[in-house]
Amino acid sequence: MRHVITYGTFDLLHYGHIELLKRAKALGDYLIVALSADEFNALKGKKAYFSYEDRKRMLEAIRYVDMVIPENNWEQKPHDIDRYDVDVFVMGDDWTGKFDEILGDKCEIVYLARTPEISTTQIKTDLTGKTNSGK
Ligand code: CTP
Repeated sequence: MRHVITYGTFDLLHYGHIELLKRAKALGDYLIVALSADEFNALKGKKAYFSYEDRKRMLEAIRYVDMVIPENNWEQKPHDIDRYDVDVFVMGDDWTGKFDEILGDKCEIVYLARTPEISTTQIKTDLTGKTNSGK
């Protein structure tokens, strides 16, 4: 069993997230998603539209995802890798090189190309002020 782990906020779930999860799962047999807790996002100055519990429920409904755990702080990654016997650590290429030093001797590290032209931030920007509900 090859265990794969990835980290993120996955707010306003979109096809860029699905592509990332699909390709992450294809690198092994069991995919763990470490999902940013609301308190951790606050620490980073970020606020998700959906709560941790709602984001978790949506991720758990995706066929590629086997388990969702909370990410509570910057320091937990090496501990997660030991605890869950992780073989592959995956992130989008917006993080290229960032984790090589701290995790490189623990597991394989893979940075996947982001899906172009979509992000949670982009969705929020595009929808600001628009109310095309048809009603
Ligand atoms: N991701 C991706 N392609 C995209 C958007 C995200 O591959 N178009 C990946 C990120 O690289 C990350 C994971 O999906 O590995 C979760 O990303 P997250 O930061 O939660 O999503 P974003 O849409 O990038 O959100 P934001 O705009 O808030 O940064």
